[in-house]
Amino acid sequence: MATERTLSIIKPDATRRNLTGKINAKFEEAGLRIVAQKRIQLTKEQAGVFYAVHKERPFYDELCEFMASEPVVVQVLEGEGAIAKNREVMGATNPADAAPGTIRAEFAESVGENSVHGSDAAETAAVEIAYFFSGLEIAG
Ligand code: PPS
Repeated sequence: MATERTLSIIKPDATRRNLTGKINAKFEEAGLRIVAQKRIQLTKEQAGVFYAVHKERPFYDELCEFMASEPVVVQVLEGEGAIAKNREVMGATNPADAAPGTIRAEFAESVGENSVHGSDAAETAAVEIAYFFSGLEIAG
């Protein structure tokens, strides 16, 4: 399997509860390397651009407001099959459906406040990484 990079976001519900270290441990235990990381405060507009693909969905406004409510930690994770591996470690979007031991099963509060985001495909990973990081900020 090829080495890939994926964009991860530790969401406001998790940064608020000081869970960054526990979530990072899950990534590292799964063999994902954190090759870039920064803590930032998004504006609602910046969150809106990031989630533009969902702009017709009923929860769009709420999602953007939530993502701008407190700082987030944006990261680039690297590893073999990193995109699928990260989504496995995160668990299902709705924590009620997330497998035991996954980040969302252990930490997520609801389908909206679900602790982490991860890119869903190679094309989106490239766009999402470029939204937050320049090449110089990523050290693989
Ligand atoms: S998926 O797996 O990305 O297709 O999941 P999806 O259900 O399409 O959800 C996309 C993102 O929207 C968030 N979401 C919500 N936010 C607020 N309120 C409600 N009801 C809600 N439902 C879904 C969900 O957490 C997904 O965020 P990301 O960051 O993409 O994981």
